[in-house]
Amino acid sequence: GEGRAAEIRALIRDVPDYPHPPVVFRDITPLLADGPALADVIEAFAGLHLPGGGPVLDGEVDVVAGMEARGFLLGAPLATRLGVGFLPLRKAGKLPPPVDRVDYDLEYGSAAIELRTGTLEPGSRVLLIDDVLATGGTARAAAQLVERAGGRVVALAFLLELVGLGGRDMLTGRTVETLLRVG
Ligand code: PRP
Ligand code: HPA
Repeated sequence: GEGRAAEIRALIRDVPDYPHPPVVFRDITPLLADGPALADVIEAFAGLHLPGGGPVLDGEVDVVAGMEARGFLLGAPLATRLGVGFLPLRKAGKLPPPVDRVDYDLEYGSAAIELRTGTLEPGSRVLLIDDVLATGGTARAAAQLVERAGGRVVALAFLLELVGLGGRDMLTGRTVETLLRVG
């Protein structure tokens, strides 16, 4: 309920000027360290309803994919809860070949994410998970990577949406679910 959401929110620490001004960094490590809070977050993801379907828990997804690194911390326990596998979407150069790759622009510079070729069953229903939706660049690249590899992105789910950064606009036409939102 509402009260529990506020308790979970209080376990995300706001760090001014990290990694540099004027960013207010949202640090989820206190939440990860709290057993009941972590379990409730995973349960909340598992209970999300997809459009025209039931909760994710009821066999709505075939695999969970998580963005490095914090998407791994939430995505792998969620996959276990759902009884499905987990697919790491890694920063460039971490996975051995062969890989599929998507390059994308950051505010300053560029980045790339990779997926091990052949680990995704064609036509699989994929739930993408990450901790924070900020500008949406990472999430958009992740969705493109999954689709390029033959998967179907049924939804993207985030613990925390930084609403002011407009990440949803990068994900137009996709199902986006966020457990918590801050300005
Ligand atoms: C953070 C966060 C998301 C991404 C969100 O990861 O965990 O993956 O940035 O930003 P965006 O919406 O503007 O793309 P980061 O790149 O800091 O990697 P880390 O989890 O390895 O620290
Ligand atoms: N916190 C955590 N992750 C992030 C943030 C933030 O404020 N911005 C982009 N990724």
